[in-house]
Amino acid sequence: MAKFPIDEFKGRITPFYYYDLGLLHTTLDALKAAVGQSPFHVHYALKANTNPAVLKLVVEAGLGADCVSMGEIRAAIEAGFNPEGIFFAGVGKSDAEIDYALANRIGCFNVESLPELELIAEMAADKSMVANVALRVNPNIDAHTHHYITTGLEENKFGIALEMLDDAVALCLRQPNLHLYGLHFHIGSQITDLEPYRILCNRINKLVADYASKGIRFNVLNVGGGLGVDYDDPDGNPIPNFKAFFDVFRENLDLAPGQQLHFELGRSLVAQCGSLITKVLYVKEGVGKKFAIVDAGMTDLIRPALYQAHHKIENITSASATTDVYDVVGPICESSDCFGKDETLPLTRRGDLLALRSAGAYGEIMAMGYNMRPLPSSFVR
Ligand code: LLP
Repeated sequence: MAKFPIDEFKGRITPFYYYDLGLLHTTLDALKAAVGQSPFHVHYALKANTNPAVLKLVVEAGLGADCVSMGEIRAAIEAGFNPEGIFFAGVGKSDAEIDYALANRIGCFNVESLPELELIAEMAADKSMVANVALRVNPNIDAHTHHYITTGLEENKFGIALEMLDDAVALCLRQPNLHLYGLHFHIGSQITDLEPYRILCNRINKLVADYASKGIRFNVLNVGGGLGVDYDDPDGNPIPNFKAFFDVFRENLDLAPGQQLHFELGRSLVAQCGSLITKVLYVKEGVGKKFAIVDAGMTDLIRPALYQAHHKIENITSASATTDVYDVVGPICESSDCFGKDETLPLTRRGDLLALRSAGAYGEIMAMGYNMRPLPSSFVR
């Protein structure tokens, strides 16, 4: 079990997110070591977590920012990311968002359709600017992850279909207010089998070679994010195997001299440093089972309800040597408001604190106000 500063937890209003900044620091160091001297640039996907304490460390580590809304771009600028290192992605960028991004001279737009390309060109022309664009290609690869977080299949709404890519490239080349900066790919999230990335490399090699034969070169190839984490054993594997991940690209992707490879990692950087700390309100006897009813619900951590995800649950205050089996559930009137079924925990009582582990990514940021519940607070150390 990870060490939690229990004394500092006492008296705090629960539920709250706890971030272990020491672990985040070590994770970012491991990332940098794994990048080494390669022409790899990592952009942090802000959608995973925009807690200011987290962003501060990511900025200090020198990463770029992958943003999907005006709010994220603003958070990135406020946190101190260099605007040039901010890339703006998303399938439905609004006019106001594009305007804001241009005005703040962000580094690049990852563009997902021809109409969006036309709008960016028009708005850049109005400002007498040239916008860097990377075309997001839908590579039609199955990432073998939960169907809600797989994105690289033809049936998904993401990216420009391969058949339409030539038109998009041609539009960039004839439009003086667009600079064709690169190609962008993202096949999904929580990917633990690296084989889909190898397949992606082969697809990219072929595509890039086809364009090179027509004299078209891309400064940047961006392969998105998606590297998964170990939700079952966060203490055994607190830091993802970045080296193995990067090696897939080192070994399989043909980078031309001077060409950069960009990544947009979210979960793998921040998931393991965060836990949702919640208090047991009641232990209720059901028919043939016991429920530990906690004060956190799906409004605080929606991943179990939305993706059938499981976050490891630990009772971090019980001193009991004996165990019992509990369904750990929240207070909200939805059957999916359940964090774990048949969880073996030390004898659990009202007032005990439970930690829902690996909650640093897509946890706090996805919290919502359903039932007019307050948003969870956070505590960093
Ligand atoms: N780049 C693009 C274009 C993306 O769509 C995403 C995530 C990322 C990068 C970062 O992916 P990561 O390295 O974090 O896997 N809420 C879901 C995950 C949604 C991911 C959406 N896109 C969850 O809680 O599992």
